[in-house]
Amino acid sequence: MKLAVVLFALVTLSECLLKIPLTKGKSARQTLEEKGLYEEYKRKYRYNPRAKFNTKAGGAMVPMIFYPESTYYGVIAIGTPPQSFKVLFDTGSADLWVPSVHCSSSQACYNHARFNTTASSTFQPSSETFSIQYVTGYMTGDVGYDTIIIGDLYVTHQIFGLSLVEDAFLDSLPWDGILGLAFPNQQSINGGTPVFDNIWKQGKIPQDLFSIYLSSSVDGSMLILGGTDPSYFTGSIQWIPISQPTGYWQINVDSITINGNTVACAAGCQAVVDSGTTEILGPTRDVNNINGWVGAYSEQGIVSCSNIKRMPEITFNINGFGFNLPASTYVLPYGSSCTTGFGTWDNDQWILGEVFMRQFYTVFNRDQNWVGLAQAKKSPESD
Ligand SMILES: *[C@@H]1O[C@H](CO)[C@@H](O)[C@H](O)[C@H]1NC(C)=O
Repeated sequence: MKLAVVLFALVTLSECLLKIPLTKGKSARQTLEEKGLYEEYKRKYRYNPRAKFNTKAGGAMVPMIFYPESTYYGVIAIGTPPQSFKVLFDTGSADLWVPSVHCSSSQACYNHARFNTTASSTFQPSSETFSIQYVTGYMTGDVGYDTIIIGDLYVTHQIFGLSLVEDAFLDSLPWDGILGLAFPNQQSINGGTPVFDNIWKQGKIPQDLFSIYLSSSVDGSMLILGGTDPSYFTGSIQWIPISQPTGYWQINVDSITINGNTVACAAGCQAVVDSGTTEILGPTRDVNNINGWVGAYSEQGIVSCSNIKRMPEITFNINGFGFNLPASTYVLPYGSSCTTGFGTWDNDQWILGEVFMRQFYTVFNRDQNWVGLAQAKKSPESD
């Protein structure tokens, strides 16, 4: 009897989980390469992940960068009747924004879904504005409130940004806007409560956490709101406390090793788990060292694709656990060649992006301020 009750409770709980399928679209790089524009765009909009992690210098500033590779997006709807948008679910920022129907500055506006405020009976304008900081300039927009529909969940009175001016590079992105999943102290639209905080406050999910499974295939990736789903991982979830209240999903890494040799992060380091960054980013010296250990023959981490089988596992030692990345997970195609998924940036911190998250199903636990990592299944069907 007792067992029956427990089973019933589990079933009910898993029924409350909201699963949002994510699609791995064509990357901006792929689209630009096909148009012969990639090199030009790369020069013009230098990929500068740091721009995203700059803390607010003053005023309402949504850091925004050129995401040449980030490709995972899901669909949400805004307003009454609902208008649909493809959004990047970004654990490295905390705002929601989509293009406004009045956005007309570039092709980027016309080639994406745009929100029409007058077509929504539940839209409420705000007198605020917001701006997004590009490496090359600013994007500005209006701020308003409306109902957001994610799966079959309705979040009422959600603040969001409506972009009016967009830089041309956004044209090549498969998604229309961004839905940030970082902590509320990283939100840049003044006084705004982030979407996930409202979902929890409005009692829509059983637990104050969400989890992300990233597949290497076009389909199969999933954002799970309100819980974890064992069909996406094997073994148990290892919990890691948030190390510093920066507003990001920031954890402490003890060291990075290859076959027991410390190759980076020798004295410990800080890392942010970010679904909105493609690579694993680290300090130049450390990343160059890792690239050297795995046999890269250029500063850009170019490796021979045929070497993957002979390249070593890289281990991130975190909170007493070892998280292994085999070469098959950290080597990415690069034109007709291959590159390691380790990039450099001018910062002591590490960013654990999609290269890391594809290998580890990640739980973002707001209730405990924990990050949970478990071995991701290659595909959720293959039990
Ligand atoms: C916005 O919606 C209104 C009301 O449905 C409609 O009259 C108007 O044409 C729409 N604007 C655009 C630019 O689509």
